[in-house]
Parts: sequence; C-alpha cells; structure tokens
Amino acid sequence: MSTPPPDPQHWHQVPHAPAPGTVLGTLPAVADGQALMQELPPPTGTPGHGFRYLLLRSGAEVKAYVNRCAHFGVPLAARQDQLIFQAHTSLSCNVHYARYRWSDGTCAGGECEGVGLLPIPVVVDVQGRICIAPSP
Ligand code: FES
Repeated sequence: MSTPPPDPQHWHQVPHAPAPGTVLGTLPAVADGQALMQELPPPTGTPGHGFRYLLLRSGAEVKAYVNRCAHFGVPLAARQDQLIFQAHTSLSCNVHYARYRWSDGTCAGGECEGVGLLPIPVVVDVQGRICIAPSP
C-alpha cells in the first residue's frame, strides 16, 4: 500500500499546474464582485480532472486561487451555482463551510484553521487577459 502524496504547499505543486504566462481568463468575463470557478483541461490522454481554480474580481484587481479546500482537498463547490461567496469579502467551502478571506485566501473561520487557499500569482495584461505571473 502506498502513502498519499503530501498536501501541496504552493499552487505550482498541484497536479496539472500550468506554466507562468498561461491565460486563465479575461477581465471582462469576470464581473466585479464575482468569484468564478474555472478549470484548465488535463493533458491529452490523462484521466481525471484538470487544474481547477477560482478567479475573484474587485474592480480592476483580480485574485486567483487553486479551487481546493484546505480541509479535505476538494473543490469549494461542485458547480458554479453552488459556490458560496460574499463579494469582495469571503468565500466558503460548501462541504463543511470553511471560510476564506477574499483578499488573501487565508482561513477566516471553520475547518481550515492555520491554512488557506493556495494563491496563484496573476497579472492582467493590456488586452485584459488574466495570466499567471512570470516566475520571480
Ligand atoms: S472539505 Fe471544505 S470545509 Fe471540509
């Protein structure tokens, strides 16, 4: 029997994490105050899900997080219409209701004490594309 891999500590350790520069969406596609569930498909021929992430918009600012609850490692919701969030303030897992801060993904209450969502560094380019920031 093999042991499961350790929980990822950074977004780029998540299976199928895309490379810096990858386009995750566009600014016009995310309404102000919206938390949007998105997924990049897995590589061709790879079974299972791809890279799941969340885009959160506050005005011209966009935050991105891996869509992975720090409690059990599952997406915060199975479908967009089930995603629980308070615009510009927080979002919650709909399994056991861990609550995360909008601004930085840290745990704000519930089953995520001391941990949080994995932030993905993003930039919005002049064409309004939300891209993974280049490596420092
Ligand atoms: S799986 Fe998200 S709070 Fe338990």
